Amino acid sequence: MRLAALLLVGFLHLTSAQERDPFSWLHPMAALQADNTGGDCPAECDCPPTFPIAMYCDSRGLKQMPYIPSRMKYVYLQHNQITSVSNDAFGNATNLVWVMLHENHIGTVGKNAFANLAKLDRLYLSGNNLTEVPASLPRTLRDLRLNHNKIAKVQSSAFEGMDNLTILLLNDNAINDMSGALKGLKSLTLLDISNNQLKKVPEGLPGMLHQLYLGFNAIDAIPDNFLNRFSNLQYVRFSHNELTDKGIPANTFNVSGLVELDLSFNKLERIPPVSTSLEHLYLQANQIKEFTLGSFCSVVDVMNFSKLKVLRLEGNEISRSDIPSESSMCLRLASDIAL
Ligand SMILES: *[C@@H]1O[C@H](CO)[C@@H](O)[C@H](O)[C@H]1NC(C)=O
Ligand SMILES: *[C@@H]1O[C@H](CO)[C@@H](O)[C@H](O)[C@H]1NC(C)=O
Ligand SMILES: *[C@@H]1O[C@H](CO)[C@@H](O)[C@H](O)[C@H]1NC(C)=O
Ligand SMILES: *[C@@H]1O[C@H](CO)[C@@H](O)[C@H](O)[C@H]1NC(C)=O
Ligand SMILES: *[C@@H]1O[C@H](CO)[C@@H](O)[C@H](O)[C@H]1NC(C)=O
Repeated sequence: MRLAALLLVGFLHLTSAQERDPFSWLHPMAALQADNTGGDCPAECDCPPTFPIAMYCDSRGLKQMPYIPSRMKYVYLQHNQITSVSNDAFGNATNLVWVMLHENHIGTVGKNAFANLAKLDRLYLSGNNLTEVPASLPRTLRDLRLNHNKIAKVQSSAFEGMDNLTILLLNDNAINDMSGALKGLKSLTLLDISNNQLKKVPEGLPGMLHQLYLGFNAIDAIPDNFLNRFSNLQYVRFSHNELTDKGIPANTFNVSGLVELDLSFNKLERIPPVSTSLEHLYLQANQIKEFTLGSFCSVVDVMNFSKLKVLRLEGNEISRSDIPSESSMCLRLASDIAL
């Protein structure tokens, strides 16, 4: 059905276009293009006449960047085998707002490849072969995805001046040093650096963060007053690290505002004190030896009960008989404590 309709539309365009271009039968897709300002759509891509500022070149086995007409704002180049992005890859296409280059084989990026894209808002480079953050990324970016690459070190100036950057994905790389590159990202709300090789919590984490994911690293300690520097932080994940009781200063997690805290798969022997406002707490696969009710609620004020809904404790050294009976008052919303 759809194919037949497409063919029919193609045929109608072809017959009228043939009057102007006698060779249009040689390149029927190009004949479909209504708006050719800034150059023709490359034969290997689709540029729908109804949406002349978008170019679709995804999943076509491309090994090189295609020509990009200057009118384009959105280009979809994901799922190809592109290996490099040269300095002139975007040519005159300086109006680009979204560039989708995820799931390619990109290992080399020209020093100025992205430098002239003064309106770039989203750049997806996930699932490539990058060993460093590309140089001269536009300061206008709001959503930058560099996850699933081979980045080891992040240069301190990598994200400088990105005042509007809101989402930054760096997970699944080989990062062992963030060199303070996160300083000054005053709009950043989501930061994912999980599954890297960090030994320390990165310095200069932005104060507006809402979600902070640091799981699957080798972090053994959390700095003093760590959570007090964030005003909106709700989701914190530290699972699969090397955290011990000694590495967690008293009351680190007893701050209001947190909704979810994941400390699973670490080396904790005690339940750290958490705020009564916390709703999800993951502590499975640690070495916890006692159930301390005082970590959840004040023992003097039974009316100030915990808002915990999910509490996971399986894979520790405690059993159900270690949970005191008073916990039914304190943990009245946690319908199921996993042990
Ligand atoms: C870019 O635009 C300039 C001036 O309009 C033109 O001379 C040049 O050929 C264009 N380059 C490309 C790659 O289209
Ligand atoms: C990725 O880069 C490495 C060198 O850093 C190279 O050996 C490998 O062939 C590249 N892989 C792809 C898929 O391009
Ligand atoms: C951030 O966004 C504001 C409002 O859209 C804009 O005026 C400003 O130039 C942007 N900053 C950067 C660095 O792009
Ligand atoms: C958590 O902090 C509050 C003050 O904000 C304090 O009253 C309470 O005792 C602390 N809870 C624990 C378990 O230390
Ligand atoms: C309840 O206890 C928490 C600390 O666990 C404290 O920060 C909060 O002010 C208390 N709320 C009330 C209403 O007493």
